[in-house]
Amino acid sequence: MSRRAAPKVNSTAAHQGQSAPGSPAPGEGPSVQTLRWRDGHLEMIDQRVLPQRFEYLRYGNAAEVAEGIRSMVVRGAPAIGCAAAYGVALEALALQGATPDAFSAGLEQGLRVLAASRPTAVNLFWALKRMRGVWEASQHRPNAVAAAALLLEAHEISAEDVRINRAMGAHGAALLADGARVLTHCNAGALATAGHGTALGVIRSAVEAGKRISVIADETRPFLQGARLTAWEMVQERIPVTLITDNMAGHLMSRGEVDAVVVGTDRVAANGDVANKIGTYMVAVLAHRHGIPFYVACPLSTIDLELPDGAAIPIEERAADEVTGFRSCQWAAKGVHVRNPAFDVTPAELVTGLITEKGVLMRPDRTRIASLFEA
Ligand code: MRU
Repeated sequence: MSRRAAPKVNSTAAHQGQSAPGSPAPGEGPSVQTLRWRDGHLEMIDQRVLPQRFEYLRYGNAAEVAEGIRSMVVRGAPAIGCAAAYGVALEALALQGATPDAFSAGLEQGLRVLAASRPTAVNLFWALKRMRGVWEASQHRPNAVAAAALLLEAHEISAEDVRINRAMGAHGAALLADGARVLTHCNAGALATAGHGTALGVIRSAVEAGKRISVIADETRPFLQGARLTAWEMVQERIPVTLITDNMAGHLMSRGEVDAVVVGTDRVAANGDVANKIGTYMVAVLAHRHGIPFYVACPLSTIDLELPDGAAIPIEERAADEVTGFRSCQWAAKGVHVRNPAFDVTPAELVTGLITEKGVLMRPDRTRIASLFEA
């Protein structure tokens, strides 16, 4: 896999309280354009350097996009799926002049490298399967025709993601009372999707509906998606947000300072067990202890009917240096043994409801989840 750094497109200091450069005014569309198609390339916001810097990196083939996913330039299950779809399209466009055999071999290799980038978010495999379907449907057509069809499909996957997030937002917003204090973990916002967000989409939709919502953002150790990304998104849109470290959630809940929890997910098994960012399980147990509703915003593309329960969900283990420090600052003793599982599984019994684009599924279980996929 290519480990060459993707070229920077532009770079701006991302001041808190100001709109991201190039982003539309509130209500005009996706508040942050996590991925964009420019001049035959995919450009993605580098989420590793937010909120200090706001910059796009440019990608030209599948191996580069896979590296962008692996290194978390782009992250969040739906955004990973969208990026992977563009990775396939880029590979096809780069191979337009190749022989049919070389085109097939190159595309297979691109699909393989993308599939190996991160294991937990099922949207990655869902998007690759969809792209393979488009390729197979145009297999006996000229390379250029297949490449154009693949690019169209990648655009459609992204556009569909925003529509789905808006639908989930409308269903989920109805669950939140005016004045609700909503705790969220990790970042399931516009940055984790093609726009609007899943968990933060629910909050955005509630705010758009005129409700006064305030957000409590868990910092989300070790990669700090809550402190760096959720806080940034909320501050930009002037949605009241309070940042806490992960170990403060129980205290706030015990004092009656949390009305609801809304999180996203990377994969939901057929029985309703939910994989999400490490620490989510802890939040779910605490919410249960304190009688606080625990909602999971979950597009249907994140439900994996092939896995019977959460024990079968592959959990990514990431590098030790994410735990021993952050960026170039390392604080733990050199040589210490480290565990870094990036996700955990919340059993279905702790989930109050799954917020999907088809509506809210209360007390998810195998039968209710299966009914979501019936016509
Ligand atoms: O490791 P990350 O940052 O990709 O993890 C992201 C999450 O855990 C999100 O909550 C999940 O992908 C849902 S995003 C809409």
